[in-house]
Amino acid sequence: MAKITTLGEFIIERQNEFKYAKGELSNLLSAIRLAAKVINREVNKAGLVYDILGAAGTENIQGETQQKLDVYANDQFIYALKARGEACAIASEENEDIVVFNNETSKKGKYIVLFDPLDGSSNIDVNVSIGTIFSIYRRLDENKPVCIEDFLQPGTAQVAAGYIVYGSSTMLVYTTGHGVNGFTLDPSLGTFCLSHPNIKIPEDGTIYSINEGNINQCEEGVKKYIAYCQEEDKATNRPYSGRYIGSLVADFHRNLLKGGIYIYPGTKKAPDGKLRLLYECNPLAFIAEQAGGKASNGKQRIMEIQPTKLHQRVPFFIGSKNMVEKAESFLI
Ligand code: AHG
Ligand code: MN
Ligand code: MN
Repeated sequence: MAKITTLGEFIIERQNEFKYAKGELSNLLSAIRLAAKVINREVNKAGLVYDILGAAGTENIQGETQQKLDVYANDQFIYALKARGEACAIASEENEDIVVFNNETSKKGKYIVLFDPLDGSSNIDVNVSIGTIFSIYRRLDENKPVCIEDFLQPGTAQVAAGYIVYGSSTMLVYTTGHGVNGFTLDPSLGTFCLSHPNIKIPEDGTIYSINEGNINQCEEGVKKYIAYCQEEDKATNRPYSGRYIGSLVADFHRNLLKGGIYIYPGTKKAPDGKLRLLYECNPLAFIAEQAGGKASNGKQRIMEIQPTKLHQRVPFFIGSKNMVEKAESFLI
């Protein structure tokens, strides 16, 4: 039997690739790995919590109030990161403002972490894949108190990014800017094991993922591109298959492995779309590019957008390089 490489071993093996102090990123990734395992345990019990013990916000049979899973996941990330001391502050989709760690271990931390603790939360109580997304940056100036500007760096400044997908198995996929690697959680060992080394997204794919219920709300270019996906053409394998889970992480993960495009465009009601630049789009864009794919807002590379606010939303086109370029060619 081939030797298993665990995520912990892999991080240590690859830490020379990291341009800053060796152990720091390893410690951060260990914190994230721990939070992922704790969240995974709770996600696996979601049916029990919601259906047997009582829905979130209600009291369970022991008289304890249930916590919403996304709040629980958020807390786990904060506990794990605060305990290691490498991150001095975080920003999360679940918190309106940045959360600064003032404890002795953390206040000198050189990193900040942004995350979407639970992505696809509408799928939790129907047993469909959900995820967690994270993004790591160096703070701008270690000698000044951490501030909002540290969080408003463009995606090109990310030092690492990744996601966890809680699916038919649980996987952690991440990049530090040297390719993309995927690890599957072996539940019997409680360990993430390298299962998808050096992931490359096919340049072309045959899957398109969009919430088609919104199509009449979209700009003409998006309508025309979707009509193009549905046209019959043997040479380009069209019509493509429509696949939409409604959990960005899960939709992106499938397209990363099989080839495809995920689109969340602007709509009449929400001209900037729904997805958040800092917690969702930038980290997945970093992974897509590191795997040979592309991510844009239709006109501009996602990672070059200068963020102006923490919870900023952007239209999102991500996936196989040729598919994203084709979609862009339909937009004016
Ligand atoms: P979150 O659960 O973190 O709020 O994110 C939900 C997002 C994303 O996961 C998904 O792709 C998208 O919302 C689905 O939105 P629609 O239901 O509008 O298609
Ligand atoms: Mn999300
Ligand atoms: Mn979320």
